[in-house]
Order: sequence, then structure tokens, then C-alpha cells
Amino acid sequence: PNPERDRLLQAYEWTAKFYHFLLKNTEHGKAAMDYLRSRGFNDKAIDQFQIGYAPDRWDTLVQFLTKRSFDLAEMEKGGLLSKRSDGEDYLDRFRGRVIFPISERNGKVIAFAGRVLGDGQPKYLNSPESKLFNKSRILYNLHLAKPSIRKLRQIVLFEGYGDVISAWEAGVQNGVATMGTSLTESHAAMMKTMADEVVVCYDGDRAGQAAAMKTIPLLEGVGLRVKIAVINEGLDPDEFIKKNGGDRFKRQIIDGAVSTTKFKLIYLKKNHILLEEDGKIAYTKEVLPIIAALPSSTEREVYLKELATELELSFESLKQDCNELRQAMLKNT
Ligand code: GTP
Ligand code: MN
Ligand code: MN
Ligand code: MN
Ligand code: MN
Repeated sequence: PNPERDRLLQAYEWTAKFYHFLLKNTEHGKAAMDYLRSRGFNDKAIDQFQIGYAPDRWDTLVQFLTKRSFDLAEMEKGGLLSKRSDGEDYLDRFRGRVIFPISERNGKVIAFAGRVLGDGQPKYLNSPESKLFNKSRILYNLHLAKPSIRKLRQIVLFEGYGDVISAWEAGVQNGVATMGTSLTESHAAMMKTMADEVVVCYDGDRAGQAAAMKTIPLLEGVGLRVKIAVINEGLDPDEFIKKNGGDRFKRQIIDGAVSTTKFKLIYLKKNHILLEEDGKIAYTKEVLPIIAALPSSTEREVYLKELATELELSFESLKQDCNELRQAMLKNT
């Protein structure tokens, strides 16, 4: 038994309900509600994800918690309140922000992510890490996604809260996201206990694609099958869905997810000008080791054929280089 932990869980549960109520039913919440509507989040999603609003005042939550006899020092330690830098007084940590409750696997709220309405820094403010909340072990929405994940044996991995929510509205209910941090080994291990396959669906910008590259060894390392969903034009999944609709997201982006090898070929291509001889050769040097490392000769042939067509080279010469590389690789291990 851990009474301090239980009190904090109680406080998070009640605060989540309180912020959700303020968003939906009070004048304070109106601007936040307008903001969420302008982003296209519907009422069902606002309820499902228990989205809330923390008013732009110093002591809304201080008063709420005081009335319920919580110890304010304990609440500050737990990340719900802050302490004035100049004194003893406590004040609300989240002010003027849309609140996304973060839950652990069993559904208990253990942290908040608070987003500014519109522009402003920081865009997201999270609860501080604590015994209750360890970012490198938490996946946003895992508690709601679990039944769908178990059924499909598949997880869709996003970068952001909005992506998870929009995908849910589009009927993709097996989506989770990291807490704005890189995927960790313990995330990967956790995913492996529930699923056989992960579709990585990160933002279409350069940073998102680079982050997607980094998830591949982690996920494959624990034995998961990995596919990468690529979004063009630099949109993120949420923006793609709002622009093109959920059906197109499912058909084009999720069902169209490519193999990790294909993704690496696409990703590395951007560094080279393939119309120039130097560019062709440099690109080939970069991708041949990736293809040569594939254990199946059928797989190697598939990608070599694609590469030959793309670069207007003969399949035979690529295959010869690939085989030589593979011999050398096998000898070295
Ligand atoms: P929206 O603008 O609300 O759609 O956010 P986004 O999810 O598209 O944000 P972005 O692609 O910039 O970042 C992806 C994720 O990184 C976010 O969902 C957050 O988890 C995290 N993140 C982004 N900005 C911040 C920040 O200022 N502070 C913290 N702590 N996390 C951030
Ligand atoms: Mn509700
Ligand atoms: Mn991004
Ligand atoms: Mn994004
Ligand atoms: Mn976004």
C-alpha cells in the first residue's frame, strides 16, 4: 500500500474530470472549445479522450484541491501545482491550456499534457516526471487502444496527441504516441507483448522521417514486424486527415505503409541528385549494403530490380555488386 501514490492518483482523476467539466460547461472553457472545434475535434472525441481546459488563472486548481483537503505540498510534488518562486504560495501549474490527460495501461490518469491555444511557447507543457509518470514507459492512449491492438495484433505509432485523436475519429483505434520523446527500448518491449506488427506513422516533415528511421532498429530489435506510413507534403497525420479525410488516410497512408527497406531507399534518395552520375553512384553505395544485408535472395532481387529501373542501370551489374558485398559481409561476421 502506498497512500501518497493513491492520493495523487485520486487528485489526477478528479482534476481531469474538473478540467473536462470546465471545458464543456463553463464560460472559461469557451475559447478552448472554439479552438478544439476549429481544429476539427468533435464532441465524441472530446469525451472519449476526456479533453479538458485549465483556466488562465492562478488558483483555480489550488482552490479545488484545497476544498477537497489535499495537501498542497504533495500536489506540487506530484506536478499538479507549482510554487511561487518568491515565496510559499502555491499556484496552478497548468494555466490557459487545453488538457490532454495521460493514462497508464489500466486507465488511471497519471499526468497531463497542456497545449496553448494557438501559438505560444512552450506549445506543450507536460507534468514533470515522477514515480507515477515515466515518459520512457508511457504510451499515450494505450489504455483505450488495447482491445483494438489485441484484435489486430498491430499498433500504429504516432508522434502527437492530435494524431492519435484524429486517427481514432477516422476509425484507426490502435494508435498510440510517445510523449514527445524518442521511442525507447522499454516502449518497444511493451509493444511486443501486445502486437506482432507496428506501423510507424510519424510527421511528414524531415524531423519526423528522421525519427521514423530511428525507430526501425528498436522495433525490429524486439522482433516486431515494422512498416512505415509515409505522408508527403510535410503534413502530420492529423493535418492529412483534416485535409483529405479519414478514408483516404486509411487507404493511402495506413494500408499503403511500406517495408522498412523501401522506406530506407526513399529516405536516403533525398540526399542525392539522381540525374547526375555522381549522385547515382553515391546513392547506390549507400543503399546496396542495406539490400545486401537482407537474408532472402527473393527480397534482394525485388529491391535490386526496383533500383535498376529507378536508376536506369542493368539489374546484372547491381546484382553482381550486391553479391560481392554480401560475400564480404558474411566473411566479416
Ligand atoms: P499540434 O500542433 O497540437 O498538432 O502538435 P503536434 O503533435 O503536431 O506537435 P509536433 O509535431 O510539433 O510535436 C510532436 C509531439 O512532440 C507533440 O505531440 C508533443 O508530445 C511533443 N511536443 C511538441 N512541442 C512540445 C513542447 O513545446 N514541449 C513538450 N514537452 N513537448 C512538445
Ligand atoms: Mn465527458
Ligand atoms: Mn513534428
Ligand atoms: Mn505534428
Ligand atoms: Mn499536429
